[in-house]
Amino acid sequence: MAENNLVWHKPYVTRNDREELNGHRSVCIWFTGLPSSGKSTIGHTLEKRLHKLGCRTMVFDGDNIRHGLCADLGFSPEDRSENIRRISEVAKLFIEAGVIVITAFVSPYRKDRQRVRELLGDDLIEVYCRCPVDVCRQRDRKGHYDKAIRGEIKEFTGVSSPYEEPESPDLILDTDKLDVDESVEILLNLLVERGVLPLSTLKGPLNRR
Ligand SMILES: Nc1ncnc2c1ncn2[C@@H]1O[C@H](COP(=O)(O)OP(=O)(O)O)[C@@H](O)[C@H]1O
Ligand SMILES: [Mg+2]
Repeated sequence: MAENNLVWHKPYVTRNDREELNGHRSVCIWFTGLPSSGKSTIGHTLEKRLHKLGCRTMVFDGDNIRHGLCADLGFSPEDRSENIRRISEVAKLFIEAGVIVITAFVSPYRKDRQRVRELLGDDLIEVYCRCPVDVCRQRDRKGHYDKAIRGEIKEFTGVSSPYEEPESPDLILDTDKLDVDESVEILLNLLVERGVLPLSTLKGPLNRR
């Protein structure tokens, strides 16, 4: 840093101050899984629940981010890694801002997710949306799996590009067995268990000062 003449300016309002004001801790809930395994659906439903409870939240969703921040990136292994690197850096900033960050990216490579872990440490809750590829294909409203099988989409995860399953995620959701609301309940309980949300959250909206 010193050779760039960059000096970190310590914020006067800290993350801890923000967390106290919000009445909950900040964290990143990182969904990973095959396309159509349910990451976006569960992520946004969880956000809606948290928002109603009075939490500060933000969802970063794969396709949306590729419209802007990562519009220059494709689906090669290098570009996928850079995509995940940028998202994790933005997630880190939002965590500092006191927000509960929810990310919904395929994030297929173990080494990329490992880098997220190194960057975010205990602020990361890695959630694997596990679902057999044939169920994902049946659910796929965008027809991406069929296009990938016909060779019309290249490097499609689950068809022509690998998905490396997480070895020790914080949580596995079997989305072919659990319905969306059941998954969200499990997640809310985990957030309470990890001290992100106070126990009282499960009974009603947070009491803000
Ligand atoms: N139990 C379930 N959990 C999550 N999604 C489900 C479930 N059952 C059916 N679906 C449907 O599967 C699709 C999952 O798509 P999406 O959430 O966009 O997946 P992803 O973000 O992982 O690509 C949605 O249309 C959703 O309504
Ligand atoms: Mg999605």
